[in-house]
Amino acid sequence: MKITDNISMDLEAYLNDKKVLEIACGDSEFSLSASKYAKQILATDISLERFKRKNLKEIPQNIEFKEMDATDLILDNGTFDISICYNALGHLESVLNSVLMEMSRVTKENGYLLFIVSWKMDKRILLDLKEMINEYAHLKINGYMGKNRYKVLIIKNIKV
Ligand SMILES: C[S@@+](CC[C@H](N)C(=O)[O-])C[C@H]1O[C@@H](n2cnc3c(N)ncnc32)[C@H](O)[C@@H]1O
Repeated sequence: MKITDNISMDLEAYLNDKKVLEIACGDSEFSLSASKYAKQILATDISLERFKRKNLKEIPQNIEFKEMDATDLILDNGTFDISICYNALGHLESVLNSVLMEMSRVTKENGYLLFIVSWKMDKRILLDLKEMINEYAHLKINGYMGKNRYKVLIIKNIKV
């Protein structure tokens, strides 16, 4: 079983029947796994070249793909139940504040922002992010899942 299948299964309660955004999706491995549970997924990345190169024969009907900068999402406020960032913190570290603001803006009030990491370098940035969240009045840490192979920081979007 792929790690993204394992993680999606562990996060089933958050994904089930939800409208989900993934930022910096890369080859979209996480969204493809999460599509087994979510109602609808928008998978975004500043470049979808890696995904296109996969040349998948079949794409689940509940996933849509769009090129989008995570610091400037062309999406309405409060559109998604959950916004997810999987293994992309290393690429986003220098713009993390803007990314957080945008993920929060497009997520519904009382929805969740999920940061999932399995890489060592990203695990260090995840801990920095965990500290950062205390500085945002409208975001609250709701949980931290520390498995052997991956970690998940679950943030509640208190107010859009
Ligand atoms: C390490 S890859 C991880 C991709 C994917 N989540 C995965 O696990 O395969 C990081 C991704 O971040 C994307 N990225 C970098 N800066 C971005 C930005 N400002 N907005 C959206 N995506 C960005 C890159 O294009 C790349 O696909």
